[in-house]
Amino acid sequence: MTGPVPYAPEESAAQPPLRFDAFKSSITRSPTRAPVRIPQTLTEVTGPSGAGVWDGLMGPAVTDLTRQYAGPAMGERIIVSGRVLDENGRPVRNTMIELVQANACGRYAHNYDQHDAPLDPNFTGVGRTVTDAEGRYRFITVKPGAYPWANGENAWRPAHIHFSLVGPAFATRLVTQMYFPGDPLFPFDPIFNSVTDEKARNRMISAFDLENTKPDWALCYRFNIVLRGRNATPMES
Ligand SMILES: [Fe+2]
Repeated sequence: MTGPVPYAPEESAAQPPLRFDAFKSSITRSPTRAPVRIPQTLTEVTGPSGAGVWDGLMGPAVTDLTRQYAGPAMGERIIVSGRVLDENGRPVRNTMIELVQANACGRYAHNYDQHDAPLDPNFTGVGRTVTDAEGRYRFITVKPGAYPWANGENAWRPAHIHFSLVGPAFATRLVTQMYFPGDPLFPFDPIFNSVTDEKARNRMISAFDLENTKPDWALCYRFNIVLRGRNATPMES
């Protein structure tokens, strides 16, 4: 038997609330009644995991989003890499990460996005991989552009990449957004600012990583994701 495991509770301001009025659609999306507790059964907490399993279900990992088509994706090529860690800094291995982003012009390859910006026929903006034994992942992509959105007059989202982590099962999925350092749109973005704790908010901003930059080829941004505890990455509910 080992002793009790130290428990580091999260600060409540470190996670975004379900309703944050400045983020207008959170008003209608957030629940108005107390949640109904549904007992968890084995099905919700077990499921496929591991590199081989995900590849078998969904095909080979997509880690280079710039070379999925006949020509290279347009825009500033970047490397996005990091580690997935638990609250004690231990690697979370074999966890599936999905990435979704707009193209370099700030447009998603999706019918819902009718923003007046060019689509890139060589870029879909969807990637997927599984963390290795050290909890590491690595994508090659292009830096997404900022885009306008319907949250009020002259509202723009800072450049960001949507991350989704599927844990042991789909019910354990966690979703967050990665931002880029120094973005001038930070003070005006209600989604970014719905995380009211400044230190926690800054954990959603990737770090420029000179060491892992590939000379003459691509800059690198490092984004470590901490699942729980005092250093937890803010996650969307
Ligand atoms: Fe987005």
